[in-house]
Amino acid sequence: MRIVKKMASAATIAVFLLCCYFIVSSGSQADCNVYAATGSNFTVQLKHVLKDSDSLRWFKNKKVIFLRKSKLVIRGKNDDVDSNGKLKLTQLTKDKSGRYRPEVHREDGTSAVDLPSVRLCVLDPVQKPKVTVTCDKTKVTFTCDAGQSEKNFPIKWFMDNKNGPENETGKELKRPVKDVLNARFSCNVSNPVSSEISQPVQQDCIKSSFPDICGIDVCIPVRTGAGILLLVILIVIVCCIQRKANLIKDKVELPLRKHHHHHQKQLVGSVLEPDICADCDLEGDNRI
Ligand SMILES: *[C@@H]1O[C@H](CO)[C@@H](O)[C@H](O)[C@H]1NC(C)=O
Ligand SMILES: *[C@@H]1O[C@H](CO)[C@@H](O)[C@H](O)[C@H]1NC(C)=O
Ligand SMILES: *[C@@H]1O[C@H](CO)[C@@H](O)[C@H](O)[C@H]1NC(C)=O
Repeated sequence: MRIVKKMASAATIAVFLLCCYFIVSSGSQADCNVYAATGSNFTVQLKHVLKDSDSLRWFKNKKVIFLRKSKLVIRGKNDDVDSNGKLKLTQLTKDKSGRYRPEVHREDGTSAVDLPSVRLCVLDPVQKPKVTVTCDKTKVTFTCDAGQSEKNFPIKWFMDNKNGPENETGKELKRPVKDVLNARFSCNVSNPVSSEISQPVQQDCIKSSFPDICGIDVCIPVRTGAGILLLVILIVIVCCIQRKANLIKDKVELPLRKHHHHHQKQLVGSVLEPDICADCDLEGDNRI
């Protein structure tokens, strides 16, 4: 019997400690069921139709902040409640966070039951975040800097204005540089009262070949030009490789086939390499 009692009290203490732990560790925000922004107004509902003879109390946490008995205001100001007895909270500051609870007592001594209370948290709206880029050897890290904003709310990433990965909601997003050369990243920081989205940024670890400093109308001709140049260079390279390959083949193969060489070369030349490949000739021949 004694042991059972001891165990029971130990269990009680354990539960009590556990409760304390949760209350402390969950912080203020987890306890809220209503959020409002600093500087805004909030009205706490009263789910009761007041009669003139009723007495109305509003509590903030354990403290009576408003008391009116049959139309006579004893605590607080007349303006603190509206005509229906709802509590008006104006110009909210963080110290107005707390549990607000009404109590209504009737003339006959009974009181209204089950009047809902709210646990209000007043939060600053989030600041507009900024994405910064840091470069590693092969990786780029995008960091969403949300300033003083509440830290506990998830960050949403956008890549080229499309939703980023759902499972990555941290401040940092790491990617191989080569995968995101021209991608624009932005982040959305939100808390229960507001959300802000950053300007999009691109990696600057590897300078992109077509920087976006010019507008679209300028860039398109520039890019087209660059594209054509690239194509020409590519063709030249392909030509050179082909030519070298042919030369090597000729050298390695039996001299028997050598008399075909001239004919073959002419054929290839006429199809693939008009004058553009002329420069390759010297280099190719010299090397082998
Ligand atoms: C909040 O209430 C006050 C007083 O009723 C009013 O002057 C003010 O405009 C309200 N503010 C907002 C943001 O609604
Ligand atoms: C997110 O999910 C993808 C695919 O499901 C996975 O490859 C990646 O490692 C995940 N990232 C994190 C940070 O969990
Ligand atoms: C940012 O995230 C919040 C919270 O999820 C959402 O309400 C808001 O619409 C988002 N903003 C944009 C621009 O997507």
